[in-house]
Amino acid sequence: MPTVPTLINPSILSADFANLERDITAIADADWVHVDVMDNHFVPNLTIGLPVVERIREVSPLPLDVHLMIEDADRWAPRYAETGAQSVTFHVEAAADPAKVAREIRRLGARAGMAIKPATRLEEVEHLLPEIDMLLVMTVEPGFGGQSFMDDQLPKISAARALLSASDLDVWIQVDGGISRDTIGRAAEAGANVFVAGSAIYGAPDIPAEIATLRSLARP
Ligand code: DX5
Ligand code: ZN
Repeated sequence: MPTVPTLINPSILSADFANLERDITAIADADWVHVDVMDNHFVPNLTIGLPVVERIREVSPLPLDVHLMIEDADRWAPRYAETGAQSVTFHVEAAADPAKVAREIRRLGARAGMAIKPATRLEEVEHLLPEIDMLLVMTVEPGFGGQSFMDDQLPKISAARALLSASDLDVWIQVDGGISRDTIGRAAEAGANVFVAGSAIYGAPDIPAEIATLRSLARP
């Protein structure tokens, strides 16, 4: 059985976009930096695109965990892998040929992540698990930070972890949305091992201390 790491990935959606380098340096104790790309089509919000991700890649001391909430993943996901981002996650709902997108991301040297919205069932994506390195189970509707964790996604996380263990697949399970001191333990217990937190980390008075607290609460 592969050992599954526990990773804390702060989301810079809650950072100060005029001071991204400073705010990325502030989370240097974390594991990866989570970068939310939104296009105002797949989700009703707009953030940053390729040129900004390229610069973040150049200045970040941490590897990049890019979360694409954009249409036409088939066209765009490979472009983000080409930035040198170490992980690129696309939404299965936005891809015409998800297996091909995942293979393309891997071919370009990044880890391939695939995200599912709360309404997407595990059964719909089960056959794609051998193609990916990480499954992102969204625990809010994608689009905005600061929303409440959806406990009804916990059974999906448990089912995914059981399926992966049974098939001996080395796939990380990421949770994103509403992760905080109050919710991270439940997500970890269900089987998640990669934890994205935006408002909980950037809203904390002591960012390194908050990262440490979340890490200790996430460890099984
Ligand atoms: C939301 C984004 C998240 C967001 C999470 O669609 O994908 O990464 O930053 O924010 P919090 O942790 O505040 O729920
Ligand atoms: Zn995200």
